[in-house]
Amino acid sequence: MAIVRDDSTGLITISTQNTSYQMKIDSIGSLIHTHYGAPIGESDMSPQLFRMIRGFSSNPNETGFTDRAYSLDVLPQEYSCFGTGDYRITSLAVRYENGAKASRLKVQDCEILPGKYGIEGLPAVYGDDNEAQTLKVTLKDEETDLGVELFYGVFSDYDVITRSARIINNSDTTITLEKAASLNFDLPSGSWDWITFYGRHAQERCLSRASVRHGIEAIGSVRGISSHHYNPFSVLCEPTATETAGSCYGFALVYSGEHLMEVERDSIDQTRLVCGIHPDNFSWILKPGESFNTPEVIMTYSHDGLGQMSRNFHRIMRERLCRGPWKHRRRPVLINNWEATYFDFTGQKLLEIADEAESLGIELFVLDDGWFGVRNDDDKGLGDWFPNEEKLGMTMQELTRKITDKGLLFGIWFEPEAISEDSDLYRAHPDWAISIPGRKPAIDRRQLVLDYTREDVRDYIKTCLLKMLDENPISYIKWDMNRSISDKFSHGLDAKHQGEFAHRFVCGLYDVLETIYERHPEVLIEGCSGGGGRFDAGMLYYTPQIWTSDNTDAYDRLRIQYGTSFGYPLSAMGAHVSAVPNHQTGRVVPMHTRGVVAMAGTFGYELDITKLDEGDKAEIREQIKTFHRYYDLIQYGEYYRLSAPEDYCTVWEVAAIDKKEALVSAVYHGIPAYPPAVRVPVFGLDPTANYQIDILDLDEKYAKDYEKLTWQSTHIINGIVMSGAALEHGGITVPPPFFDGIAWQIFIHRLEDG
Ligand code: GLA
Repeated sequence: MAIVRDDSTGLITISTQNTSYQMKIDSIGSLIHTHYGAPIGESDMSPQLFRMIRGFSSNPNETGFTDRAYSLDVLPQEYSCFGTGDYRITSLAVRYENGAKASRLKVQDCEILPGKYGIEGLPAVYGDDNEAQTLKVTLKDEETDLGVELFYGVFSDYDVITRSARIINNSDTTITLEKAASLNFDLPSGSWDWITFYGRHAQERCLSRASVRHGIEAIGSVRGISSHHYNPFSVLCEPTATETAGSCYGFALVYSGEHLMEVERDSIDQTRLVCGIHPDNFSWILKPGESFNTPEVIMTYSHDGLGQMSRNFHRIMRERLCRGPWKHRRRPVLINNWEATYFDFTGQKLLEIADEAESLGIELFVLDDGWFGVRNDDDKGLGDWFPNEEKLGMTMQELTRKITDKGLLFGIWFEPEAISEDSDLYRAHPDWAISIPGRKPAIDRRQLVLDYTREDVRDYIKTCLLKMLDENPISYIKWDMNRSISDKFSHGLDAKHQGEFAHRFVCGLYDVLETIYERHPEVLIEGCSGGGGRFDAGMLYYTPQIWTSDNTDAYDRLRIQYGTSFGYPLSAMGAHVSAVPNHQTGRVVPMHTRGVVAMAGTFGYELDITKLDEGDKAEIREQIKTFHRYYDLIQYGEYYRLSAPEDYCTVWEVAAIDKKEALVSAVYHGIPAYPPAVRVPVFGLDPTANYQIDILDLDEKYAKDYEKLTWQSTHIINGIVMSGAALEHGGITVPPPFFDGIAWQIFIHRLEDG
C-alpha cells in the first residue's frame, strides 16, 4: 500500500519506491507535515519537530493557555492559512463577507481512493487503479464553514506525488479567494539551495542557483502566460547536491498562466515553498456551495542528485501527462518554412521546399505564419484564419494535396489566441480583444489577445480551427502565442469578477485545446509562444511537444536545452537545424553539429533547403538516418547531463531502459588551445556486461586536415570494449576537438554474452 493511515496516531504515510512523505493530524486537528525524503518506513517523525515557547509566535486560542509551545507560526504544515497566527508566506487567503481575512483549517476526514484524482477543466497527471492512489484530506474552518480538500496523487513506481487543492464555500455567504496556492511545502531544518529557471525571448530557462537566504524570494509571471521569464518549475536541494548525489525536491506546476513560486527561510531556519496561481492578478468569488480547484503540482524527491530528479519528471510527464496517439507514436522529422522564407513565400516556393524535403527524407512539411488573411508582415491579419489564396497562388486544398501527394505529412501554424487590430475579425468584434474601456492597451508585436474567458469567442475560434482540420489533411498544428497579456479586462465579466480574468483565460485556452484534441486526437499539436514562452507541464497535457526557443543557434541551444531538461523530457523539446550564419546570433556552426544538438529533442529543419549545396544535403540525409536509428533511445531513454554548458564541451547521454545501449553526444564550443581532456562517466548500463564503443560518423575527411597523430587519437576509443562498471567508474574520453564547434556522437552497445 502506497498510502497508510493510522487512526490511533493520526499519522498518514505515503511511500513510493524510493521516497516517503508523511503528515499527521495532531491533537487539535491541524494537518502537520512531518517528512518528505528518503524512505522512513512508517516511523512517526512528528516527535522530531522541535518545540519551544517563542515570543511573538501566536498560539491557537485553544492551546494558548495550556501549551505556549504550540504555534502555527513555526509548525510545518500541509496547507497554511493567512491571518490566524502563521506569519510566514501562506497558501490560502480568503476574504469573508464581513471583510475579515483569516482562516484556520482543521482536519475533518481523510480518504484513500484508488487511482489518480482528476481536476475538472484543468490538465493533470493521470493514472489508473493499478498504478496510482489518491489521498484526499478534508479540512474545515469551523468558524466560517470554509472547506478545503487536499488531494495527493501517489505514483509509487515513478517516485512522484502530485498535489492539488479544492476550496469549497460551505457557508451561506459569499467569500472571495485572494490567494489559493496549490501546495505548501515545509522543510523544518537544513540549508537549501533554490534552483530556478529565468530567461527572456530567445534565451529561455537559464539556470539560476543560490542558497535560500532569510527572507522571501519569488519567481512568477503576471504575463497571462507562464512566460520565457520564469519557468513554473523549481528545485530545492542540498547545497552540496550534484547531478549524482544529494537531496533534491522538484516542483513542476501544471499550469500555463500566471504563477508564483515563493520560498521563505524563516527566523529559525525553516524553509517553506508555496506555489500556485499568482495572487496579484487573482481574486475569485465563491457563492454559497461553489468551489474552486487549484492547478496541480508534480513533486518528486531524489536522494541521488539532480539527474535522478529530472529523470523522474521526464518519465511521469512523458508517460502520464502527455496523452493521445502521439505519446508513443514516432514524431515525424519536420521542415518548417519560417526561417526559410518568413512571410515572403508563394505556394510554388513552398512546393519547392517540400520537393527537396521529400528527397532528403523529411516526413512533415509545416507551413508557418503568413498563409492567411492579409498577413504579409506581423502588423495585421491575426484572427482571419482564411487561406490567402492570392498569395499562395492556389487553394489550400490544392497546396495540401500536392504536399501530401509527395508522401509528406502536412502541418500548419495558428496563433489562435491572437487578434490584429488590422483584421476583419477585429473590425467585426473589437470587444473580443482584451483591453480596458477608456484605456488604450499596450501593444506587443502589434497585436492583441482574444478574450478567451468568453464562450462566444472560444466558439468562434473552435469553429475556425475545426473547419481547417475538417477540410484539409492536416496532421500537425503549431499552436503559437506571441505576446504577454496586459490591460486585462473582459466585457463578459462584471466589475466584481474582473479578478478572475487571468485564470479564466487559461481555463478558456484549455477548453479550446481540449475540444481540438477530442475532435482530432490524431493531430499532433506543438505548443509555442515566441519559442518557449509557454513551455510548461500544463501545455504538455495537450501538446506533447513544444517549440523550445526561437533561438536556433546550436551553441545557445545547448544551454537552453540543458536548462529545459531539468524539468522536461527530450520528447517535449522541439529542436531544429537552421541556417548559418544563424539568424539570431550570426554564428556559424557546422551542419553536423547543428544536427547533433537538434537530435536532443523532436528533430526537424528550419531553413531554405533548396539553397543548400550537395555536401549539406548529404549530411541531412545522414542526420535523418541517424535520428531514425536512435529514435527510441533519444525519446524514451534515461537522460543524463554529463557536463554543463558553461565549460567548453557539453556532453549528455541517453541510456536505454533495458541497459542494452547508450548514446553519448558531445559538442565543443569556445575551446581554448590544446584543451584538457574531457572524461565523462557513462551511466545507466549493466556493470557486469560488456559494451563496445562506436564513434559515429568518423569521417576520414578530418584525417587529411589534421596531423596524423591527432587524428589517430580519435580512434583510440573507437571499437574498444569496456564493462558497464568501467564505463561508469572509469569513464570515457571524448574524442579531441579538431576545431571549435565539432560534435561527436558515441554509441555504446552491449555485446551479448561477452
Ligand atoms: C513565433 C514563433 C516562431 C514563428 C513566428 C511566426 O515567434 O516562435 O517560430 O512561428 O512566431 O510569426
